[in-house]
Amino acid sequence: MEKYSIEIPIRKFRLNELTDDERLWIDTAVISAKQAYAPYSEFHVGAVVVLANGKIVTGNNQENVAYPSGMCAERVALYYASARYPDVPVKAIIVIAVKDGVIQKHISPCGACRQVLLETETRFNQPVRIILGGSDEVYMIESAELLLPVSFQSF
Ligand code: THU
Repeated sequence: MEKYSIEIPIRKFRLNELTDDERLWIDTAVISAKQAYAPYSEFHVGAVVVLANGKIVTGNNQENVAYPSGMCAERVALYYASARYPDVPVKAIIVIAVKDGVIQKHISPCGACRQVLLETETRFNQPVRIILGGSDEVYMIESAELLLPVSFQSF
């Protein structure tokens, strides 16, 4: 028997350690979170997708009374980016949650969103940096692959 371990490097920043662009992306994700349609959970999530052409695309969670029909902010933003700019690689995604108007401690993408992030990475053969926003601390993970180790890939 052989045993393997996987280590996931995560860098933690305070807001004042971020670049101007990174701070702008976080502010934009907060605005997007506040526009989420989340009447059932009242948990508002915003995502900003940063593209290699310099454009950004926003998304937020969209819920439905038939619960599984809803979708996370990350996939709304990633699918919209893919629909609008199908040939442009994704460089980063910023995710932040707001509840009762208050920015929450960082949240991390769910399994389904990780799978879509991973495919975005393999599709363009470029890592997608994942930036998990918070009110005072921000976590950065350099690629989606790190968040979904030992993943399913058919190609
Ligand atoms: N949600 C997201 O949009 N992104 C995440 O990373 C975690 C959860 C949404 C799904 C649902 O609308 C609400 O947050 C509560 O789970």
